[in-house]
Amino acid sequence: MKVLLLNGSPREFGCTYTALTEVAGALNANDVETEIMWIGRDSFSGVYEYGSLIDEFAAKLDDIDGLVIGSPVYYAASSGAISMFLDKAFYTNGGKLRGKVGASVVSCRRGGASAAFDELNKYFTINSMPVVSSQYWNQVHGNTPDEVRQDLEGLQTMRTLGKNMAWLIKCIELGKKNGIEIPPQEKKTSTNFIR
Ligand SMILES: Cc1cc2nc3c(=O)[nH]c(=O)nc-3n(C[C@H](O)[C@H](O)[C@H](O)COP(=O)(O)O)c2cc1C
Repeated sequence: MKVLLLNGSPREFGCTYTALTEVAGALNANDVETEIMWIGRDSFSGVYEYGSLIDEFAAKLDDIDGLVIGSPVYYAASSGAISMFLDKAFYTNGGKLRGKVGASVVSCRRGGASAAFDELNKYFTINSMPVVSSQYWNQVHGNTPDEVRQDLEGLQTMRTLGKNMAWLIKCIELGKKNGIEIPPQEKKTSTNFIR
């Protein structure tokens, strides 16, 4: 059992990373392997320049049971880097994520966290991915990793998320062993607005 955690901040070891490591710690403590992938580094290149990162991401998808998307809050939204990456990654490889659990995590100094959180969760909910919740919306507050470490409620929210994610992954795994699979997809009907 493995979870991939995406860090969409240009700061590799910043606040988002600090939140993600707390989630990863709780997953590890509950027998789930983790890997943090930093995708924030190309924050100013265009969506079509993401090719190699998308390939790297796609190559990991067969081996994972869950995905955590992490982003700093920029102007009450997710970072441009993660948003560009996810648009392309889900458009090209969303099918491989179907049935795997997902959660998003955001880090902000003060406000806009729930708007960014809502935005990120929509990648899961258009892709048949069960969304894992915690005891509060998944956010931490701070401008530096040290400040995030002082956000005790935020860190607790991250740990609860990790534990809940491990629990759900194990439930799904047990279901599969007993013949309970994700329902087959209907052939997609695609209507534009009302037509
Ligand atoms: C361009 C930019 C926009 C930001 N916008 C917001 C914002 O709307 N609300 C907020 O609370 N913090 C905002 N921040 C602060 C970051 O969200 C916050 O410091 C975050 O924890 C940084 O995470 P990181 O260290 O992983 O990059 C902004 C920072 C930058 C650089």
